[in-house]
Amino acid sequence: MFEEAQYFAPVATRDDGSVVVELASGHPGFADTVYRNRRNAIAALALGHKPGEPIPHAEYTDEEHHVWALVTQELAVKHDKYAVREFIDAAARLGLPASRIPQLQEVSDLLKPLTGFGYLPAAGLVPLREFYGVLADGLFHSTQYIRHHSVPFYTPEPDIVHEVIGHANTLASPRFAALYRLAGRAARRVETEEALEFVSKVFWFTLEFGVMREDGESKAYGAGILSSSGEIEEFRGMDIRPLDLKAMGTTHYDITKYQEVLFEAESFDHLEDVVGTFWDTCDDDSIARLAASH
Ligand SMILES: [Fe+2]
Repeated sequence: MFEEAQYFAPVATRDDGSVVVELASGHPGFADTVYRNRRNAIAALALGHKPGEPIPHAEYTDEEHHVWALVTQELAVKHDKYAVREFIDAAARLGLPASRIPQLQEVSDLLKPLTGFGYLPAAGLVPLREFYGVLADGLFHSTQYIRHHSVPFYTPEPDIVHEVIGHANTLASPRFAALYRLAGRAARRVETEEALEFVSKVFWFTLEFGVMREDGESKAYGAGILSSSGEIEEFRGMDIRPLDLKAMGTTHYDITKYQEVLFEAESFDHLEDVVGTFWDTCDDDSIARLAASH
């Protein structure tokens, strides 16, 4: 329902140095002063982070850990049913804690020996080129806050449940991690904004919302589906189409709703052949030709 660098509450630093996350009036935490203060404090942690230093420790409340535990338990059952095997196996290897929110540094330390990936803290919006570009270096920008406790199975923005349960479990797979790196290299290689947007939309329809044929069924591998307890139950009823680079790179999507059009790879090999090769070789010209093709 959202994409990095596209749907974040704005973060502002005031003249006195205080950091304010500007939640929209419809946000579940909008009227909750305690929650808003938490969001401000957690955003300030990320803003204070300097490259190369350990990720700042976020002290979570019992209520926040409880939200994580609830969602983890709920999603684990659904992953068994709906996630691709590669994801389930990678999640088992990563071994995220089930009853408490892990620190991003801890997630990094678990991932490093598996695929070399590490996490970077993000206060909010990270520009597209930066967000995707550092994937080439094995780095993933992640928010640290968790959704509001009143709606544990819903979030209008990418929170730590999405970033870690969705993405870190995927990044624990060498095959998926290789695709993330290729997307990053593509984002660094292209120069025009149009080409960058095309690259990011292909990411959206694959690593965020991709599905794959496995044992005669549609299984999810996109982090956006795998971190949403509602969407994971619904994706099989959506309009599922064959992988198609031009369509993925040019289809408009609405980040505020469940993804209605999904693209399905026939297999992991197929995903790597089509999407991996695209990211590995694309440039401004090849993307412009693809976008103009019929
Ligand atoms: Fe994401």
